[in-house]
Amino acid sequence: MSGADLFFGRAPLAGGVPCVTCHTLNAGERVSIGPNLAGIGLRAGDRVPGLSAQAYLERSIQVHDEFVVPGYQAGIVRAVVGDDYGNLLPNEQIAALVDFLLHQQAEEVADGGVVAF
Ligand code: HEC
Repeated sequence: MSGADLFFGRAPLAGGVPCVTCHTLNAGERVSIGPNLAGIGLRAGDRVPGLSAQAYLERSIQVHDEFVVPGYQAGIVRAVVGDDYGNLLPNEQIAALVDFLLHQQAEEVADGGVVAF
């Protein structure tokens, strides 16, 4: 099962809410519940000083609220999905999602991936 299948909900995801419900990978799209993840492979390593892109993505998926992207609110995933993905998904699935996101390399993303409400 690939990270893309999990992301888009083509493979069942624990908690029942696929990532694409809240995140787009379409670089030109502005409004979504969560940040635009087009090009996140290029930005992830700059989000938190000292954290590699891979470590940032892993931790962002495991506990969404650990690092809250500026412009967004904490608590949305727990409210909608019911728990943290780190408690719901096996490590192999988190690794597949991280790998998939590391490969998102679009350079031009609307609003730098962050939507101001
Ligand atoms: C219910 C809505 C929702 C779902 C479902 C969801 N996310 Fe998120 N996600 C958010 C919000 C809101 C943020 C911004 C707040 C924060 O950083 O926690 C976010 C932030 C992120 C970030 C950090 C992005 C950045 O620009 O630094 C990553 C990576 C991420 N999510 C990956 C995922 C993955 C992978 C899944 C599926 C396993 C997923 N999300 C499912 C709402 C969601």
